[in-house]
Amino acid sequence: MAAELQFTYQNALSTNAGTDGISPKDLNDKAALAAVDAFRQRVDSGEIGFPMLPEDRRTAAAIAEFADELRGQVDDLLLVGIGGSALGAYALDVAIRGPHPAQTSSNGKPPRPRLIVLDNVDPGVVASALAGCNPRRTAVCVIAKSGSTAETLATFMIVREWMGNAAKGKPRVVAVTDAKKGDLLGIAKEERWPLFFVPANVGGRFSVFSPVGLVPAALLGIDIRKLLKGARLANQRSWSRDLEQNFALRSAQLHHALDTMRNKKTEVVFAYSSYLWGAAFWYRQLWAESIGKRVNRAGAVVETGQTPVAALGVTDQHSQLQLYMEGPRDKMITFWDVRKPRVELKIPKIYTRYDSCGYLGGKKLSDLFRAERIATEAALTANGRPNCRWSLSHVDEVTLGEFFQVLEFQTAFAGELYGIDAFDQPGVELGKKLTYGLMGRKGFEEHARELKGLK
Ligand code: PA5
Repeated sequence: MAAELQFTYQNALSTNAGTDGISPKDLNDKAALAAVDAFRQRVDSGEIGFPMLPEDRRTAAAIAEFADELRGQVDDLLLVGIGGSALGAYALDVAIRGPHPAQTSSNGKPPRPRLIVLDNVDPGVVASALAGCNPRRTAVCVIAKSGSTAETLATFMIVREWMGNAAKGKPRVVAVTDAKKGDLLGIAKEERWPLFFVPANVGGRFSVFSPVGLVPAALLGIDIRKLLKGARLANQRSWSRDLEQNFALRSAQLHHALDTMRNKKTEVVFAYSSYLWGAAFWYRQLWAESIGKRVNRAGAVVETGQTPVAALGVTDQHSQLQLYMEGPRDKMITFWDVRKPRVELKIPKIYTRYDSCGYLGGKKLSDLFRAERIATEAALTANGRPNCRWSLSHVDEVTLGEFFQVLEFQTAFAGELYGIDAFDQPGVELGKKLTYGLMGRKGFEEHARELKGLK
């Protein structure tokens, strides 16, 4: 039986993609294995925690129990959080329950709530989301590891006021934050809301298998135990020293080589599945915030990073593909493919007298989908545009758990290859401090002055 998760990269090699591809000798396996060892040390010392998350069955059981208690009582779930505190849950919901505009409202029995992510502080979006929900039939999940992010707290304050007394009595608010510090912790304790914690050694974009992703997922009816099972499969694979088995390592090596040796400064993630569209946004953050760094771990200025771009197949064939095919040779393309579609649709045999319809009638819509992906890959390769492919046998909790965790390992290994710290985000922190200063938060006056100087 073919492996459920596959990674193929022949089209990134010079044998297929010509001089823009890399040659097998550019793939330094010794350096790759050293990256595994270096990362392993950081995990074993307790500095980095994401590989351990799938082992925490106790937290998963507590979350599942909490979600069971709320089952059938709410129609909507408002997720108040941003960045790593929102993208994982969004990606899981889109993948397991379906793309958002087309998602059916009642999945499962009793019906599962609809997910509304309140990450952006555009007032119109927040207002219309609240106008469409009943506070007595809405659960609110507020997530901030720092417990202080301005966007999250501002939106949450509005949501809290909107909930009024509905937030009292039976708790419909759950908070996810750090166990020891931050104002969200204080607020949740004061209000006596249920609380789940993000381990201190797990950063936002690596937290999808912590309560950050698992609490909303469980409330939405996603089987979180299966997600963790998939993530454990990824752990096994990602510690392997066999590079043909260790997809995360091979992929990290490939990305690093294409960037540093062939100047591929952009990675286009071409997701040929609307179910993986949320995952593409989740990955965009993972790759950008982790690899985009000014200094390396020795403190030298390096300004590393590939710019990740999310593209949707086939839609973006009619929007972006011309650029990928003939524009600057600064891109690698990573296809995301799902071999077995969630549903099959047959194209009816009608309008047979018309050339544009006759050949389509009687075929499956998924055959057209697949043919377009194959044709795009072949054309890009023929044009010397290096590309690789992740392929999932199907999308469910197990395959998704494995895929996400492999991508997190890929990112961690790439960090080691670039010699940068994939786990900090000084640029994001600076943005947060400048916002605090501008909005008059005590202790950030210096940042406010800095901004005035820039005006
Ligand atoms: O990956 C990260 O660490 C960031 O993108 C954070 O997730 C984001 O800034 C939100 O932070 P917080 O959870 O503290 O609100």
